[in-house]
Amino acid sequence: MSTKKLHQVRHHILICEGKSCSAEGSDKVAKRIKETVKDLDREDEILITRTSCTEQCGKGPIVIVYPDGVWYREVSPKIGSRIVSEHICNGQVIENRLLVDLQENSEL
Ligand code: FES
Repeated sequence: MSTKKLHQVRHHILICEGKSCSAEGSDKVAKRIKETVKDLDREDEILITRTSCTEQCGKGPIVIVYPDGVWYREVSPKIGSRIVSEHICNGQVIENRLLVDLQENSEL
């Protein structure tokens, strides 16, 4: 396992790999997210962590982006890739996969 230089980290992606999200394919999502981060040469500034259950079972796979505090639901490998390329790299949230409506601050 490598050691990330934390002073370079700008974004943290949490990928739920609890039982429910795993059953929905979170492993494939994690793989695609890692590939996209590598392809875009952002490995130094993006930290990826696989988590246990994030208490949103049935809405997964769940992916969370910090420091933005954006929670995504039903993330496919393709959406995972877009989270990296569009949200993190271009600041464009993937609106149709938000778990929480950022305007209303309520669950969709
Ligand atoms: S297993 Fe992912 S929210 Fe529970």
